[in-house]
Amino acid sequence: MTCLKKTLFFLLTCIANLVSYNHNNVGLRNVAASNVGLNYGLLGDNLPAPPEVINLYKSLGITKIRIFDPNTEVLNALRGHRDIGVTVGIKDQDLASLAASEEAVKGWFATNIEPYLADVNITFITAGNEVIPGPIGPQVLPVIQSLANLVKSRNLPISITTVVSMSNLGQSYPPSAGMFTSQAREQLTPVLKFLSQTSTPILVNIYPYFPYASDPVNIHLDYATFSTESVVVQDGPLGYSNIFDAMFDAFVWAMEKEGVKDLPVVVSETGWPSAGNGDMTTPDIAATYNGNFVKHVLSGKGTPKRQNSSISGFIFATFNENQKPAGTEQNFGLYNPTDLKPIYKLF
Ligand SMILES: *[C@@H]1O[C@H](CO)[C@@H](O)[C@H](O)[C@H]1NC(C)=O
Ligand SMILES: *[C@@H]1O[C@H](CO)[C@@H](O)[C@H](O)[C@H]1NC(C)=O
Repeated sequence: MTCLKKTLFFLLTCIANLVSYNHNNVGLRNVAASNVGLNYGLLGDNLPAPPEVINLYKSLGITKIRIFDPNTEVLNALRGHRDIGVTVGIKDQDLASLAASEEAVKGWFATNIEPYLADVNITFITAGNEVIPGPIGPQVLPVIQSLANLVKSRNLPISITTVVSMSNLGQSYPPSAGMFTSQAREQLTPVLKFLSQTSTPILVNIYPYFPYASDPVNIHLDYATFSTESVVVQDGPLGYSNIFDAMFDAFVWAMEKEGVKDLPVVVSETGWPSAGNGDMTTPDIAATYNGNFVKHVLSGKGTPKRQNSSISGFIFATFNENQKPAGTEQNFGLYNPTDLKPIYKLF
């Protein structure tokens, strides 16, 4: 918006417009940020101190974050910021001992969660990150059950669940053909049935970047980044114009085939690297993907199979993390850890 007119009347109108334009912008930024959570990973040796990071979230209006383990510095920094809902992960390597004994689960809770209950808004605890399907997958259900019993007996408003990836799907195309692998059926289906009893969401990581990067000839960038309105995949009565919805719905179809209907799905991670794989990973593409994901959430439209059931999700991740494997893995962040500058503008 430019103020080119020179008369007093126009100048005043122009200033008024600028002011309301800025207000709208800030309003939109806060609405966007309050509907979309951010993952806060700690695999970097140059990350800002947790209190600085919490200040960044407050300044952006972020009200949901996910941390991968019950890090004491982060949880202490969150004290008093009850407007931020926190999803806390149990470390994968802790699952075996927790699965073996309810006493161990009580001890884990007393050490890692109890000290923060009074002034940190812990909304979810996740048992394991992408361990189903896999060798330690069977440890997830007993840990969820023990913790769910514990929070129920204490009447605490904390949901207990796990985080899984798309690798549970043996088939995902077209979405209605979505079906779990046999190992996923063994390990995930009992978890989904347990979560269904209390309508506790399953958390799923959905990354359109990976199918795009592995098959850019057949999967067009527009379809991968929510950049077309046209139906690209027609699946019976359902039309798909972005692969995110197709992946989400393939998971929903696979659950239905296991007899699990209407279980809420929360997107625990999505995102796009801004570097690391040539022209498939630029700040522009990452900004387009994440920006369009935020718009998709704000539209409240849901997916073709779950229309009008708005998507809830977390972008991966807050910072570029230099202790992750080299390449794209280090470049999913929205912010540069050393100066807290955005790598590209999102909120
Ligand atoms: C805790 O976080 C959840 C999820 O973000 C939010 O809905 C709720 O209002 C928060 N609680 C408080 C006391 O602000
Ligand atoms: C979704 O919402 C729109 C607009 O309110 C409505 O016309 C449509 O019937 C709804 N669809 C479903 C499946 O509920």
